[in-house]
Amino acid sequence: MTMREKLDLLDRRRTESEAGGGPVRLKAQHDKGKLSARERLDALLDEGSFVELDRFVTHRSSGFGLDDQRPLGDGVVTGYGRIDGRLVYVFSQDFTVFGGSLSEAHAEKICKVMDLAVRNGAPIIGLNDSGGARIQEGVVSLGGYAEIFLRNTLASGVVPQVSAILGPCAGGAVYSPAITDFVFMARGTSYMFVTGPNVVKTVTHEDVTMEQLGGADVHGATSGVSHFTCAGERECLDGIRRLLGYLPSNNVDAPPRGSDSDPHGRRDESLRDVVPDSPNKPYDMHEVIRRVVDDGDFMDVHADYAQNVICGFARLGGRSVGVVANQPAVLAGVLDIQASVKAARFIRCCDAFNVPVVTFEDVPGFMPGVAQEHGGIIRHGAKLLYAYCEATVPKLTVIVRKAYGGAYDVMSSRHIRGDYNVAWPTAEIAVMGPKGAVEILFRKEIAAASDPVAATDARVQEYTEKFANPYVAAAHGYVDDIIDPADTRPCLISALESLQGKRDRNLPRKHGNLPL
Ligand code: HXC
Repeated sequence: MTMREKLDLLDRRRTESEAGGGPVRLKAQHDKGKLSARERLDALLDEGSFVELDRFVTHRSSGFGLDDQRPLGDGVVTGYGRIDGRLVYVFSQDFTVFGGSLSEAHAEKICKVMDLAVRNGAPIIGLNDSGGARIQEGVVSLGGYAEIFLRNTLASGVVPQVSAILGPCAGGAVYSPAITDFVFMARGTSYMFVTGPNVVKTVTHEDVTMEQLGGADVHGATSGVSHFTCAGERECLDGIRRLLGYLPSNNVDAPPRGSDSDPHGRRDESLRDVVPDSPNKPYDMHEVIRRVVDDGDFMDVHADYAQNVICGFARLGGRSVGVVANQPAVLAGVLDIQASVKAARFIRCCDAFNVPVVTFEDVPGFMPGVAQEHGGIIRHGAKLLYAYCEATVPKLTVIVRKAYGGAYDVMSSRHIRGDYNVAWPTAEIAVMGPKGAVEILFRKEIAAASDPVAATDARVQEYTEKFANPYVAAAHGYVDDIIDPADTRPCLISALESLQGKRDRNLPRKHGNLPL
């Protein structure tokens, strides 16, 4: 063969490797409203940046019709590319090849890019669209999954791991995305479940569709498995690009600096009017966040799940921060099981990847009730406490209104290594709210009073003046300052800058024992 002939052969083989499962299956994919594996990579990565690896890999199985079908690439496109110029490793499963099912060779390709990502300190992004374990391969395929799970676990907290679910993701296959840091789902075309509707029907006699059992909305709002529910695939891929802009490439790098056009000293007097005069009236904490962060730009994580706590990414003075905020507009901002777990996981992710945590606090306490107690609010609330305590990134806290009881301690108080803790003049820092306190302390007096309502009001007034304000905490140095709400942004940016050199570490140990 001449060189020309060899190059022609290479060209033909490369073209063949890009054909996936052929035009009929590709059309079926498009007809479902789904992109192909390669179209997804084009949409995800900087133009022309994708470098493919292992395009000539084929499966090694025989029987069950596999002998005469050895598609190049074996149902997954793997390699590396750039997002905003930064290196990322990717795999994109090709549903047109054996339903994107995972064979030994398919798994090895994924493991190779995962290993490269860890070795080279870059994020790994998985685009999942697969019928699960390649049935014809049996245990070899199961072994392939286990190899991936192990790598997901060992890479956790070392490089960011992001999963997009863009089709089926069923059976044990769900556990790889579940271990990754962030899961994106596309509404209408993606679903995740351990056992599908047929098995559910047999075992529990429940009738559900795939969408009802494990669609994007269910996992975004009810189970919390997914962090981002997107209108479609392109929104998922755009979302991943945006998310990575807040995160460093690995656990020893700093997050990238964003645009720094919003003035650091920008005051906002409208913040003085956000908190209603009546302590029991709700307001939307999103308003506070938007007015404080750079350009009002906030990326809500788990936006539809446990909305009584808000978690998300933003920038202050161009620097990435993770925001955790109680949301008085939902369940009065109380901390329940779901909110505790949501915020704990977010804080641990920020801490793992050197993203400072900014907390906006307005919390009446932990949620009372038999369901919460029996559901383990003690254990789950402890996760949030643990996450704040162990975090060594800069921790900044603004007490906006209520900081009652244990929740005061938990929400990044100075006592658990908060670095910069300030309160608005509207802050109420106390063991409990005035009414509850008065009813306990003065129960007999109120019962004996000729006018119990007036007696209660008088005691509430007295208690409020004495305890439900930020001055007692400030007198003890538990809050560093009481600030005009209008100055929140300049204060936080100045503090964040002062904390750039923060050095804090926990004692060496194998690992802590988070109350799971
Ligand atoms: C081999 C598979 C496959 C699989 C699909 N295909 N799943 N081949 N192994 N697991 C093939 C089909 O034979 C078909 O081939 C093509 O992919 C497309 O599949 P369709 O069924 O035509 O597509 P659709 O109607 O869209 O249905 C998609 C599906 C269904 C819902 C995913 O294919 C399905 O139920 N597949 C099996 C799912 C499953 O039970 N997987 C094992 C889960 S347990 P042709 O040649 O016709 O195009 C698991 C264990 C993991 O994954 C263990 C980790 C611990």
